[in-house]
Amino acid sequence: MSARIIDGKAIAAELRAKIAGEVARLQAAHQLVPGIAVVQVGDNPASSVYVRNKAKAVAEAGMRAFDHTFPENVSEAELLTLIGKLNGDAQVNGILVQLPLPPQIDAQKVIASIEPDKDVDGFHPLNTGRHASGLPGLVPCTPLGCVMLAKTVLPSLSGLEAVVIGRSNIVGKPLVQLLLAEDATVTVAHSKTRDLPSVCRRADLLITAIGRPEMVRGDWIKPGATVIDVGINRVPGEGRESRPAGGAGKYKIVGDVAFAEAEKIAGALTPVPGGVGPMTIACLLLNTLRAACAQNGLEAPQIGG
Ligand code: GUN
Repeated sequence: MSARIIDGKAIAAELRAKIAGEVARLQAAHQLVPGIAVVQVGDNPASSVYVRNKAKAVAEAGMRAFDHTFPENVSEAELLTLIGKLNGDAQVNGILVQLPLPPQIDAQKVIASIEPDKDVDGFHPLNTGRHASGLPGLVPCTPLGCVMLAKTVLPSLSGLEAVVIGRSNIVGKPLVQLLLAEDATVTVAHSKTRDLPSVCRRADLLITAIGRPEMVRGDWIKPGATVIDVGINRVPGEGRESRPAGGAGKYKIVGDVAFAEAEKIAGALTPVPGGVGPMTIACLLLNTLRAACAQNGLEAPQIGG
C-alpha cells in the first residue's frame, strides 16, 4: 500500500484564502490592515528564500509588509533600536526576526526585546511560558502547521503515541506542548537518544525536525503511521541551480525522511518540498491576523482550529 500524501501546499493555500477573506472583512469593517515587520540580517541564502516567500504570501493575503534588511555586521544595539521602534508602531502588528543571527548578536536578547503581543513567531519567553501553562498566546508557526497537517488525516490525536525527533526551541519543544494539548502520548527523541529506530517504530505519529537528509528510513516507521517531515535539506543532485549560478552546482531539496521508502510503509506522509514549509508561512499569516485582532480589541476569527 502506498501512503496518502498530505498536500501541504494545497492545505496551506486553503488556509491563506480564508485568512485573506478575514483580512478583507477587517479592512471593510474596521479600516484595519494587519501589518508584519520582517527583519533579516545578512544574506544567508536559505533565509533570503524564506523572507521572499513570506513577503509574497503577506501581500497576497492583503496584509502590509515592512521589510528591514541589515548587513551581516550590524550591531546588536542597532537591531534593538529598530525593534523598539517597531514595538511602538501601531501599523506593525507582528514582528519577525529571521534566525539564525550572526554571532555578535545575542538572539535570545533580541527575541526578548519584541513586544510579546507582536511576537508572531511565538519565541518570546512569555509566550513559551504561556504555551507551556496552557494559557492563550502566540504559538510557533512550524509546530502549529505540523499539528494542522496531522489533523487532516487523523480524526483525533488523543491517546496516540507521538514521537518528535528534535528538541529545538523553534520546533521540537513547542510541538510537545501542542501534542500534549491534543492528549497524545509524547516522546521527544534527539541526538543522544539510544536506538532511535526502535523509538520511532513506536510512533503512530512521527514528526521529524533534525536537518539530516533522509536519515529516517522506511523500516523505522510503524506500518500505517502518519509521518510529518519538517526537514528541508539541500543535497547535490539534479534539480535546482544554485544561486548565484555556478555556485555549488545543482542541488535538490529533500526531507529528514527517505521518502521513497517511507511511502511504502506509512499510512500518510508529507512531501518535501510542499509539506510543512507552506504551512509555516500560512500559520505566520494566521498569527499576524490574530495579533492584529487582539491589539485592536477584536475577537480572533475562528479559522485554523
Ligand atoms: N529560521 C528558520 N525557521 C524560522 C522561523 O520559523 N522563524 C524565524 N524567525 N526564523 C527561522
